[in-house]
Amino acid sequence: MSIRFGIVGCGRISKKHIDAISSIKDAELVSVCDLDSKKAEKQSSYAGNVPFYTSYDDMLKSENIDVVNILTPSGLHSKHTIDIVSKYKKHIVVEKPMALLLNEADEMIKCCDENGVRLFVVKQNRYNLPVMKLREAVEQNRFGKLVLGSVRVRWCRPQEYYDQDPWRGTWELDGGALTNQASHHIDLLEWMLGEPVSVMAKTNTFLTDTEVEDTGVAIIKFKNEALGIVEATTATRPKDLEGSISVLGEKGSVVIGGFAVNKMETWNFADCSDEENSEVLKEYAEMPPNVYGFGHQRYLEHVIDCIENNKKALVDGLEGRKSIELINAIYESAETGKEVFLHFQPRRSRLGRKQHD
Ligand SMILES: NC(=O)c1ccc[n+]([C@@H]2O[C@H](COP(=O)([O-])OP(=O)(O)OC[C@H]3O[C@@H](n4cnc5c(N)ncnc54)[C@H](O)[C@@H]3O)[C@@H](O)[C@H]2O)c1
Repeated sequence: MSIRFGIVGCGRISKKHIDAISSIKDAELVSVCDLDSKKAEKQSSYAGNVPFYTSYDDMLKSENIDVVNILTPSGLHSKHTIDIVSKYKKHIVVEKPMALLLNEADEMIKCCDENGVRLFVVKQNRYNLPVMKLREAVEQNRFGKLVLGSVRVRWCRPQEYYDQDPWRGTWELDGGALTNQASHHIDLLEWMLGEPVSVMAKTNTFLTDTEVEDTGVAIIKFKNEALGIVEATTATRPKDLEGSISVLGEKGSVVIGGFAVNKMETWNFADCSDEENSEVLKEYAEMPPNVYGFGHQRYLEHVIDCIENNKKALVDGLEGRKSIELINAIYESAETGKEVFLHFQPRRSRLGRKQHD
């Protein structure tokens, strides 16, 4: 039996979801919707003329849907999730970041629990082949004591990118390079190094006319004493340069580079043969067509497996919340100039809050 999907939000990322659903044997795209009828109609036709709607209420009242994919602007994810779950009790796949405010993430988790539905947060980079290989090495304790993890996002997002939709580059609905672009990489850093205990950060807006930062750096201390560095910028010019993660430990070093954490560049372990090294460097490199990568199909296959076989999700609401807390702590530190200790409730972070002139 197929799992029946409905899409809310037919913007830039929707094609990835349509392609992924249509490539999965056990999945069916039932319908799409967007407030903008032109966008809804366009994606309906791309998806083989599935019915389209301009209201998710109309879609969910008319169609038989098991899972709703929420692909709306980030600051609206919680409102849409909570509304849909409380009225229609559907499983939810929500794009990253799941929410901007911690209390919104908490309310989403609570609402899904209370209504007996599953909440899946899209973190498709966890399914990149070299990232899965790195995670396997962490789980096998091949690094020994973990020392340092770094993520770098050096992408190019010119003013036209921010100008294409009013929500982009705002604190209320988007967040800056650290939230929109680097939330994947911050998630990967936490996945590899574990629980963060404190963070110090600086941010700035260099090349764009936006409320939010186009550049940010953070130093993180983890519970296992490892240190972490986050470097995120959309002010790389003239084009995307790098989306990478490196993990160093007492017995090994791994670097995954490429522009979308897609290419194993270093695989050095004290216990690694030359054969293993060259095989891993050769096998764990993939070249995706854009920075979104290949992971959406693998991610939605996992969602279906979790629903059909009642398995625990790799990135459920609680797991998705972790990077939201760390990102808020990074902003809190940038605003206060102080080291911020987790767990905490944001006071000065502007993420998710309407700005007043
Ligand atoms: N996983 C990834 O790599 C990845 C990549 C890009 C974007 N995203 C995330 O996906 C989300 C959407 O990004 P995008 O670039 O597609 O944005 P977008 O602006 O291109 O699309 C959002 C769409 O949602 C629609 N919308 C808003 N409110 C609605 C409502 N109530 N009902 C129906 N439709 C509604 C808008 O009309 C718009 O068409 C963001 O949260 C973003 O962070 C994730």
